[in-house]
Amino acid sequence: MQFIKDFTSELKVVSPGRINLIGEHTDYNMGYVLPTAIEKNITFELQKNGSKDTCNVYSKTFDTGFELNLNRIARSNVEWQNYILGVINEILKRSDKLKGFDCILESNLPTGSGLSSSAALECGLAYGLNELFDLGLSKLDIVQLSQTAEHTYAGTQCGIMDQYASVMSRAGHVILLDCLSLESNYIPIDLNPYKIILLNTKVSHNLATSEYNVRKQECEQGVSIIKNKYPKVNSLREVTQEMLVDCKNDLSQKVFNRCSFIVSENQRVLQMADALRLKDHKKVGDLLYDAHEGISKLYEVSCPESDFLVNFSKSFHTVLGARQTGGGFGGCTLNIVHADAVSDFVESAAKAYKEKFNIDLEPFKVEPSGGTTAISLISSN
Ligand code: GLA
Repeated sequence: MQFIKDFTSELKVVSPGRINLIGEHTDYNMGYVLPTAIEKNITFELQKNGSKDTCNVYSKTFDTGFELNLNRIARSNVEWQNYILGVINEILKRSDKLKGFDCILESNLPTGSGLSSSAALECGLAYGLNELFDLGLSKLDIVQLSQTAEHTYAGTQCGIMDQYASVMSRAGHVILLDCLSLESNYIPIDLNPYKIILLNTKVSHNLATSEYNVRKQECEQGVSIIKNKYPKVNSLREVTQEMLVDCKNDLSQKVFNRCSFIVSENQRVLQMADALRLKDHKKVGDLLYDAHEGISKLYEVSCPESDFLVNFSKSFHTVLGARQTGGGFGGCTLNIVHADAVSDFVESAAKAYKEKFNIDLEPFKVEPSGGTTAISLISSN
């Protein structure tokens, strides 16, 4: 693209991906989650280009880009462009200060791996444009407008967790986020001598978007039926296992299972927060295995590859627990592994996975890291 030749970066934004320790699919059910940013991220270099409405975006990683006009924002047929266009669309609703800009992106965050590369893309751009044009948006505005962009332009009816974690995380902590009140508590995470190891299955089954929206509808269906007996209930967050059992005959087995998973997953998040505070590592591991069981059997958002890796980890006494992390149907499993046993576990898992699926596993260690940062590269005087 032409603009790259004369590009002078004014601002650099680093926008991270995230893991979720526990609390899957609870965010859009107004429950609890426990995510943190990781050190894998997307970097944005931005400059104002002096035009009123012409913008250029180029991805170094994928060597592809596009030009857009601020007066003609519409959905694109090219999937990744919709994350950019959706954010711009939301910013234009909130501010008339946005003008022409150029942006170069670079990512070391694997896409489709359940680590929220989409939230990193949305939030990083919103964060950067907010700084560059002094739009006056708060961090929470950035989180919320990015979530809306995902609904309207990318088509996933996601909760708020990914965007919140990408922007708001603190190094060495997980965020206990109440998705109903948006109150958050930063919980220090010290798993020493254990490490968090991700195993990227390298599969992202294309059910992810369609089935995600179906799960959301199934939960809403559950709430509307439970409401007949318990009129005050507005979300699964307010439902207990006892209430659910009381309504069992009115619910299909499938909807009962979905609701049952969410109700117990919310409890697991709170138990996990306690286990971290008490440094009860065994409990941390047990909760992960329990969660995966529910993800696989009740919520049915796992896949043979993730199930295989989680089961495989159970034969290692050096692994405390494991589960698939993120929206589901592939992506990464998260494993809590003793520091001395990491290479043994990773090598054995890679070998077994290759034999079973003929796929090269991609393992990496992650540390709970800080949220989005911006560095101005032009001095203000
Ligand atoms: C995706 C969504 C999140 C959340 C997770 C599942 O990552 O973007 O909002 O629902 O799935 O926990």
